[in-house]
Amino acid sequence: MTDLRPRPDLWSLDPEVLHLNHGSYGAVPRRTQELLARLRAETEANPMLWFRSVAERLTTSRQELAAFLGTDPAGFAFVPNASAGVTAALGAIPIPPGSRIVLTNHTYGAVLFAAERFARAHQAEVVVVDVPLEADDDTVVAAIQAELDERTAALIVDQISSATAMVFPIRRLVEACAGIPVIVDGAHAPALLDAPAEDGADFWTGNFHKWPAAPRPTAGLVVAEKWRAATLPLIVSWSEYDERLPERFDMQGTLDYAPWIAAPESLRVLAELDWPVRRTQLSALIDEGAQVLAKALGTDLPDVAHPAATMRLVELPFGGKASPEAGEAFKARVSRELKAEITLTGFDERVFVRLSAHAYNGLRDYELLAERLPTLL
Ligand SMILES: Cc1ncc(COP(=O)(O)O)c(C=O)c1O
Repeated sequence: MTDLRPRPDLWSLDPEVLHLNHGSYGAVPRRTQELLARLRAETEANPMLWFRSVAERLTTSRQELAAFLGTDPAGFAFVPNASAGVTAALGAIPIPPGSRIVLTNHTYGAVLFAAERFARAHQAEVVVVDVPLEADDDTVVAAIQAELDERTAALIVDQISSATAMVFPIRRLVEACAGIPVIVDGAHAPALLDAPAEDGADFWTGNFHKWPAAPRPTAGLVVAEKWRAATLPLIVSWSEYDERLPERFDMQGTLDYAPWIAAPESLRVLAELDWPVRRTQLSALIDEGAQVLAKALGTDLPDVAHPAATMRLVELPFGGKASPEAGEAFKARVSRELKAEITLTGFDERVFVRLSAHAYNGLRDYELLAERLPTLL
């Protein structure tokens, strides 16, 4: 059995509920919540003083977040979320009429929509490459490379996919692109991969409000030097003509900047949890938890070649394609009747529970889900 002591004391999560989906919206440790509350109290004590102090505080926070990623702070900008990061990247690259934006069937739905919006605006097209769930790195690279040609405006690729919790070989894909701009959707990568932004992509975006447990919204956009001048924040504000990428993205009008300023506190909590060791323990835990659930459901675990460190898919015995509405209704029933928070994903006509493990989870959580979930099937 996995030797891991969960730390529910660090979190304010409802102890009556099984929290098995950190991957969607994360969870914020009490300590960060307290800092956030203090920062908001400070704002309301003197808004003028607060907004005068924001730029300097953002600089400090940015530097800490860039150091956590192991990336050059000069190329690291704040964005509210990975969706904004991908959108800003698409706005920076040339998309000539007739060109193609290439992505995969693992791409997050909202990111596909962003690619479609830019393709429509530029008379370009979106090409979806089929990558099998069980594909190894060679197969992934070969499938994507086969769709790249002189018409390709960009490749958008997940670093860790949402629906399939699979790690993609970014460095090899960047090499295969040989100069075609690569936009990496690393929404799940911070804290799950070491130095996730350092594989040589043109653009990388990732969420701190998922695995690093930072307050929502906090995300980063890392931009290769050649694109920094062309990359603009989605909101036009006073720093529009600032030549420095990070500063250009810092102040986007009157916003709540407290989450960005408080985010490093969550990194300190992870450090105190000895995160790399803890992550290894959580990988063993999620393997065990997924097996327990699959056994209870009577299904096989999919053979994902490189699963994400702390997420696993367990197939539901449904078969066929479930509608998004049916999926939402099922999750609501699980929440209401089983006191469990899970997410469902669909891929290739198969329906999966995507399980997460974070520092508040223990094996008992998965055992209880395994006892309860079959009662709803
Ligand atoms: C792979 C992937 N990309 C993008 C996103 C969007 O993240 P956000 O909602 O923070 O913009 C998610 C969110 O779960 C995701 O899993």
